[in-house]
Amino acid sequence: MSLKRIVVMISGGGSNLQAVIDAVEAKAVNAEITGVIASRPDAYGLVRAGEASIPAQVISRKDFKSAADFDTANLNTIRAFKPDLIILAGYLAMIGAPIVEAFRNRIINIHPSLIPAFCGKGYYGEKVHQAVLDYGARFSGATTHFVDEGADTGPVIMQKTVPVLEGDTAKSLARRVLDAEHEILVKSAALFCDDRLKVSGRKVTVLD
Ligand code: GRF
Repeated sequence: MSLKRIVVMISGGGSNLQAVIDAVEAKAVNAEITGVIASRPDAYGLVRAGEASIPAQVISRKDFKSAADFDTANLNTIRAFKPDLIILAGYLAMIGAPIVEAFRNRIINIHPSLIPAFCGKGYYGEKVHQAVLDYGARFSGATTHFVDEGADTGPVIMQKTVPVLEGDTAKSLARRVLDAEHEILVKSAALFCDDRLKVSGRKVTVLD
């Protein structure tokens, strides 16, 4: 089976990007990462891309007059990298409808909670884990899903639970959830690149 082409979009530290880079290098994911797109010039993930000799571009919303122009710039850059799969790895800007349309069921997002809990507008980074603690939930976790037009609303691919421990802070919970994110993001990408994910409506089936 030929290598699938992956573009990874980031906004921050890029530890999820690093997990995918390492998995590709270890041949645990049948793909090559052809490009990285960062929504911020100070995203440390850009350093990780550079160390892995992966071409990277910064496309920041503030550099564009409108969301539509931002989307067009993102879409043009994505197309130039010719991906089979787009991974949103800690990507915090919006992915507009034109991109979702063009890459229906070919954009995977990682979210640091058990969707549909603690997700959607305003739930990102440590805010997610603080909300879990404030609510008194006993479990949190991570979710991968295909991206649709909503915020964290697309078909769920994989989830992994993480127990909330006595004395947990947002930081300590985030640290354990991040390990779960890395694990299921790599597994989801591997299944996609082996053509083993089938989407029917909201249901995602893993093919043998
Ligand atoms: C992760 O929890 C991710 O889900 C969130 O930002 C955190 C850092 O991600 N969006 P990364 O290290 O930049 O991949």
